[in-house]
Amino acid sequence: MKTKYQEIASLVLTGEAFGQLQIIENAALVVEDGKVVFAGAQHGAPDADNVVSLAGKCVIPGFVDSHSHLIFGGERSEEFAHRMAGTPYSSGGIRTTVRATREASDEELRENARRLIAEFYSSGITHFEIKSGYGLDVETELRSLKIAREFTEDVTFLGAHVVPEGVERKEYLASLTGEMLEGAKQYAKWIDVFCDRGAFSTEESREILEAGIASGLKPRMHSNQLENQGGIQLAVELDCASVDHCTQLSAEDIASLSGSNTVATLVPGAEFSTKSPYPDARRLVAAGVTVALATDCNPGSSFTTSMPFCIALAVREMGLTPDQALWAATRGGARALRNDRGTLEVGSNADFVVLDAPNHIHLAYRPGVQLVSQTYVAGELVFER
Ligand code: NIG
Ligand code: FE
Repeated sequence: MKTKYQEIASLVLTGEAFGQLQIIENAALVVEDGKVVFAGAQHGAPDADNVVSLAGKCVIPGFVDSHSHLIFGGERSEEFAHRMAGTPYSSGGIRTTVRATREASDEELRENARRLIAEFYSSGITHFEIKSGYGLDVETELRSLKIAREFTEDVTFLGAHVVPEGVERKEYLASLTGEMLEGAKQYAKWIDVFCDRGAFSTEESREILEAGIASGLKPRMHSNQLENQGGIQLAVELDCASVDHCTQLSAEDIASLSGSNTVATLVPGAEFSTKSPYPDARRLVAAGVTVALATDCNPGSSFTTSMPFCIALAVREMGLTPDQALWAATRGGARALRNDRGTLEVGSNADFVVLDAPNHIHLAYRPGVQLVSQTYVAGELVFER
């Protein structure tokens, strides 16, 4: 069955190059068997069995969220309130969530993730990665990864989030690179480490990531959020698909990223929620670095499921143009996961979003407004308002 979405006020197609968009006015998108079979000017569109008018609306590729922590118990609103009153953010808060996650049943963890994924759909996210990292013992890390695998193929083992309470550092590193990793590789595709103050050193991060790579996992990193420990060089050296946060970057860090295949994933929700200065995305863009935007949805440092909110912050606070921000949240996220999503070219998955707006600039221009009116994954409606 072929469906034609027509009279689209603006259809946004993402190009190969960073920030490159092609915008087609009075366009049509034709979908068959979950795939895009036509995307272009309406006058050239083929006939279809079903015709839907999207007059006055904008259609964009679904957002690809390459960084989320959806498997956890509890919440930390009190910690947020303290931060807003001046208490600085620290990695120690992770342990609060670890306690609640260990206590939660599988069904509670699954239900929480399901609720957040419904929010993802309502914000236009059609593909997402999920990390473990709030179990930090063999049993709870593996439970978390197993549940994450029910929702996405992009599952990341983040046992190296912090050293849990009551465990010797050396002993934990041995478990991370031994028994925990051995179990994790059944479910995870990626290995991640929080290389930062209060988490893991660059040397420890190397040891953990190299063990993961030797077990067949692909590396990615959290780095340079709180402090610059030299994690960017390690990310580039190990060919990490992405290095995330990048709040504190030196000129050398930017130079190493620019000659690499490692995406710099910016997570403005974390700066917002930790009251930290935003990184200047323009420095990265000027150096030719590929930039992605992600929600980093987690109960501590960035409890948002809204990619439009991240886009608005990236435009207002990080200096991306609306075109660059849209690209970073679609094709950029896909690059950070090394897949070919985030585009509506013929043959790709029909993952797309209908905005109640004449163009994509409205995502930043109308912050906090629910502009997503429908979200489709492989041609199936997953959200409608
Ligand atoms: O991406 N930076 C490390 N991990 C999460 C925060 C974890 C937490 O505070 O619970 C992040 O910001
Ligand atoms: Fe994170």
